[in-house]
Amino acid sequence: MSKVTVFDHPLIQHKLSILRDENTPTKEFRELISEISMLMCYEATRDLPLEDVQIKTPMAPMTAKKIAGRKLAFIPILRAGMGMLDAMLTMVPSAKVGHIGLYRDEETHKPVEYYNKLPGDIDERDVFVLDPMLATGGSAIDAIQIIKRSNPRSIKFLCIIAAPEGIKALTEAHPDVDLFCAAQDEKLNPNCYILPGLGDAGDRIYGTDVVGEVSVDKRGSTVKLHSKTK
Ligand code: PRP
Ligand code: URA
Repeated sequence: MSKVTVFDHPLIQHKLSILRDENTPTKEFRELISEISMLMCYEATRDLPLEDVQIKTPMAPMTAKKIAGRKLAFIPILRAGMGMLDAMLTMVPSAKVGHIGLYRDEETHKPVEYYNKLPGDIDERDVFVLDPMLATGGSAIDAIQIIKRSNPRSIKFLCIIAAPEGIKALTEAHPDVDLFCAAQDEKLNPNCYILPGLGDAGDRIYGTDVVGEVSVDKRGSTVKLHSKTK
């Protein structure tokens, strides 16, 4: 059975509140996605095995610890998953990277695959699938199905906000995959967007859906852009 971990660390929760705010601009949104991903990576890699190594400090020889040769692969689901990738690679620079391109059809809300390139030696690797949003779960379920064809050693799914509907669907479809998120939200709206959520993650990362009111402060220096309501 899948293990579901909701990170309640105060730093993650604080950053998540700013991330959700509709007035948070694109640049800050991207930075927050990265910072939260870095903190999540730290927690989600907690069970990596260690091995003893002999080293010498300037003072004395000692038996120290290093990660025991586990090979990792990070697989962002395009587009929004890319927002989490650099942070993960900062923490684990030796990881290989695969990409899965999926978008949700606007009418059916079902995922449509358009790209898939995975490392050739994925059968020797522990995989972390990255996507900030788990809504219906369709995209995560299909991405993991694609990855499983290449027989990875293990798969973990990291998202920032998960809907209860997505958690149920993903854990039922892939009970061998552990799930990590920063928040479990209330529910989906009729368009399958997460409530309260943060809107469309891909659009907010890449600034592709900014419409409507633009306001400038008294000195003419602060511009606020309000995202379209889903
Ligand atoms: C978003 C998000 C997930 C998916 C979640 O991507 O990044 O991949 O929706 O929804 P689901 O759980 O109902 O499948 P989207 O399809 O908007 O594509 P984008 O990242 O290219 O914007
Ligand atoms: N995809 C998003 O980016 N946001 C949601 O709330 C649901 C799916």
